[in-house]
Amino acid sequence: MYEMKPEYYTGIEMIDKEHARLFELVQQTSDLLNDEYLLDKANEIVGLVSELINYTRTHFSHEEEYMEKIGYAGIKDHIPQHRKFEDKLMEIDLEAIENDFEHQDETVEDLLGFLLNWLVDHILYVDMKYVKK
Ligand SMILES: [Fe+2]
Ligand SMILES: [Fe+2]
Repeated sequence: MYEMKPEYYTGIEMIDKEHARLFELVQQTSDLLNDEYLLDKANEIVGLVSELINYTRTHFSHEEEYMEKIGYAGIKDHIPQHRKFEDKLMEIDLEAIENDFEHQDETVEDLLGFLLNWLVDHILYVDMKYVKK
């Protein structure tokens, strides 16, 4: 199960809720990878990637507003990391996924690894910096 662990909580309710939703999307990616009955996963992959793009944008804008509001000095280094992640998601070639039936699982596996690494690292080492202890 991919879900929030105690060390991921910032204590800021809105942020924690949104991070939890991102973990749900990671879990959905994992479920899709493990679905042996679905032969063509293209529609699901496209749907998941769009949802990820939409939801991360929403979350990032809320987080950026929050950092602005508390006058967090590290915001300048933080924002480019959000943009970089968005760019990575945008780089996923959805058309290739639709046409390349045989490598769909590989694509989902790569996506899962990328999402999980990024999310956990970003929450623990980047987001946590704006949390006032
Ligand atoms: Fe962030
Ligand atoms: Fe975040």
